[in-house]
Amino acid sequence: MHDLLAQAAARAITYYAERDGWSVFPDSHAMEALQHFIEALPAEGTDGQEVIRVLDEVGGPGTVASTGGRYFGFVTGSAHPVGVAASWLAAAWDQNAAMGVMSPTAAVLDTVAGAWLTTLFGLPAGTQTTFVAGTSVGNVTCLAAGRDKLFAVQGWDSVNDGLIGAPPLRVVVSDASHSSVSKALGLVGLGRNAVVRVPADDQGRLRADALPPAGDPTLVITQAGNVNTGSFDPFVEIADHFEGSPSWIHVDGAFGLWAAASPRYAYLTAGMDRADSWATDMHKWLNVTYDSGVAMVRSPDDLARTFKVGAPYLPDSGRLDPVHRGPDMSQRARAIETWAVLKSLGRDGVADLIDGCCSLATRFAASLAEAGFTVHNDVVLNQVLVSLGDAAATEALIKHAATNPTTWAGGSVWNGGPVLRISVSSWATTEADVDAAVDELVAFATALEENE
Ligand SMILES: Cc1ncc(COP(=O)(O)O)c(C=O)c1O
Repeated sequence: MHDLLAQAAARAITYYAERDGWSVFPDSHAMEALQHFIEALPAEGTDGQEVIRVLDEVGGPGTVASTGGRYFGFVTGSAHPVGVAASWLAAAWDQNAAMGVMSPTAAVLDTVAGAWLTTLFGLPAGTQTTFVAGTSVGNVTCLAAGRDKLFAVQGWDSVNDGLIGAPPLRVVVSDASHSSVSKALGLVGLGRNAVVRVPADDQGRLRADALPPAGDPTLVITQAGNVNTGSFDPFVEIADHFEGSPSWIHVDGAFGLWAAASPRYAYLTAGMDRADSWATDMHKWLNVTYDSGVAMVRSPDDLARTFKVGAPYLPDSGRLDPVHRGPDMSQRARAIETWAVLKSLGRDGVADLIDGCCSLATRFAASLAEAGFTVHNDVVLNQVLVSLGDAAATEALIKHAATNPTTWAGGSVWNGGPVLRISVSSWATTEADVDAAVDELVAFATALEENE
């Protein structure tokens, strides 16, 4: 067993150290090699060391180098070395964090990391965290709690009696809300289409002047960090608008919530603390390994209303255990890597991570603009949207950015046209990485123009 684990650790260390030197997206040879995995379930087992060898030698080259400094796709985020190391230990511990009695270590780290996060984001004292798989589940968790609260204030027990026959509940979303919000609304039974859509401006910010009148019980879904532009909804105006009426304001802040952790960028989140719930990812901008998001709700009672379960074998710890405040029962002790990376970086290190990525995004945008690219967004955070002369040239650029060996960025559509979407969200990205990526994209654009 010792040799097996030592071999896996050695292979992982080599991967982590060398992956940045490989092609960012797997080459065709690595892609073809993945066919090796396609087989019927073998009747007989295989030696563990051989299993790990195949996994590493066939699977490793087929991975995308999102842990490296040249990956700018999807607001993906990297993996901080302390987070990787903590996740190895956590995997060996294999703790179930559902209840304190199942893991005292998981319970204390859940409490501590949760409190650190809410402090970092400047959220109200007493805000309850629930560690979840990611912001998609975080949104579901928060919207379920908001739904049940808004029915409860109308005297309807949706937790026990369901939604059939329930009084009306208005849901307000922005035209520029993330696709996971729509999915969450479907999952919590409120419907993807049964919403009031508020127009967004050219940066993707909800237009507060177009909000429907307050008064009716309303679930309002706002956004910190538009997935294309990085823009923020006007939280102060939204909170003012619904002040004093039965409402629940949720902030979907998968990556943008992290602006609150930086003294330089916290102004973007002004008024966000007046909401009732928030969801974000640590696996994006904190660069924690995957399966690491958090739902945060102002009042623990609102989580307990929706998620509390009872069974004779579930001991009452006197604390609101994770099983009673989120959708999971058995769950990975997700707080461990978050605690480790926060402990390693400290408050200043987190601010430096955010500020560093934003400065590099500004550098990216300025260099590309100077080279003749059109920049489509106000680069307020870590997101940059660019295009070349016309749609066809931009489509060619997007294809190139997804297939060249040294730089990866994806496409999107903004204000009706195709754009290359660049996200700087890795601790590993340096100025040299950005400059090299710019050179790559500019060289492609120049060659394209010469061939016209
Ligand atoms: C604004 C926003 N909300 C939600 C999500 C979904 O997060 P996750 O992929 O962690 O579920 C994303 C992902 O990019 C996002 O940008």
